Amino acid sequence: MYWKSLLNVLALAGPAISCAHHGETEVVPEHEREELLKKWDQEWSFSGIASFAHLRPVKCLIEPQENYDIAVIGAPFDTAVSYRPGARFGPRAIRAASARQMAGTSYNTRAGINPYQSWAKITDCGDIPITPFDNGLAERQMYEAFLELGSRKVVNAAPKGDQSIGSGHPKLVTLGGDHSVALPALRALYQIYQKPITVLHFDAHLDTWNPVRYSAYWQSEQTQFNHGSFFHKASREGLICNSTSAHAGLRTRLTGVNDGDYTNPGPEQGFIRIHADDIDELGPMGVVDVIMERIGLDPEQPVYLSVDIDVLDPSTAPGTGTPEPGGWTTREFIRILRGLEKLNLVGADIVEVSPAYDNKGETTALAAAQVAFEIITSMVKSGVDEELGGWYGRKDEVDAEGVEAVETEPDSETVGKDEL
Ligand SMILES: *[C@@H]1O[C@H](CO)[C@@H](O)[C@H](O)[C@H]1NC(C)=O
Repeated sequence: MYWKSLLNVLALAGPAISCAHHGETEVVPEHEREELLKKWDQEWSFSGIASFAHLRPVKCLIEPQENYDIAVIGAPFDTAVSYRPGARFGPRAIRAASARQMAGTSYNTRAGINPYQSWAKITDCGDIPITPFDNGLAERQMYEAFLELGSRKVVNAAPKGDQSIGSGHPKLVTLGGDHSVALPALRALYQIYQKPITVLHFDAHLDTWNPVRYSAYWQSEQTQFNHGSFFHKASREGLICNSTSAHAGLRTRLTGVNDGDYTNPGPEQGFIRIHADDIDELGPMGVVDVIMERIGLDPEQPVYLSVDIDVLDPSTAPGTGTPEPGGWTTREFIRILRGLEKLNLVGADIVEVSPAYDNKGETTALAAAQVAFEIITSMVKSGVDEELGGWYGRKDEVDAEGVEAVETEPDSETVGKDEL
């Protein structure tokens, strides 16, 4: 009775206390709109809502009409970690650290393009709302989200008239989140491309551990899904191409008393292993050569690039869950990524940024934001219909056949001109 009468009172009072606006929405005249844009449509690097690189934020999962060529998507999830948690705050931290990547100021000199002012429509699709209470459910949420977002229509055909398997599908760049997000991502890509995916994996660790390594006795379906075993699971499911995949930056301790983790038959054999130390003999470009030799440029073979930020040394990236001293510097790693610009990337992740362990200078998040920038640049550059040169946009070094002579020293005259 009480409820009924209260509802009646509210219903009667409704019109009187309503603050809803019943009139027509006034259309702003064109000239006024132009004036407003001129006056106020400016964003400083430090202002605005923190989307990735100030890209237009859209909750793509609830906007089925929203299409894009590249989507940045957050996967704030960290309940599958074995050591320090906190990577659920990674997407926020990486977005904040990307603040100085603005469309107007993001010309990438090594690539000869500004990825945010080129042919591709790039959207920050927000975060997947992932449950922190049930990892089985979380995995399903991520899988469904990646599949949905990766199945949308592209907006702009790449000018190059891209013939690769990735053309016609948008590319996803995921900001993690712990590394287990790579499993639902690979399941979705397998579904979209209908073939095993080449995985290029930068990490201090293998992440191909058999889940029984964590506990042989206490096992459940949930314990299989963790941030050290997802490549084991993915490989066993046939999602990973065993003849073209690579680990790079390794320096993890192994289990037991011998190198069984390296030599036993199993999914770990589907990857070649490049150790962090190898950079001393090879140099960054030597590491690039080994990777390119392994992966190749087959336009029919999709490549997924997975970057665990702990591939960097803890001195340059302390904010991560399982740090291992003795890694690469940010500069070395960025150089390697730049050298890989021709790979047939269909997706990528940057994971394990755990801001609670970062420093006040946001060192780790800044590195992750730069890694995302380089990956996005390469994705866009692969569709540009112009021979841009392979390094620092030196168009004058592309000879008549379109072959890049990247090793040539620029003559002093050119350097002088560039500096002006
Ligand atoms: C790769 O190797 C693993 C383990 O040996 C196997 O289970 C899987 O089916 C292989 N994947 C493909 C795509 O052949």
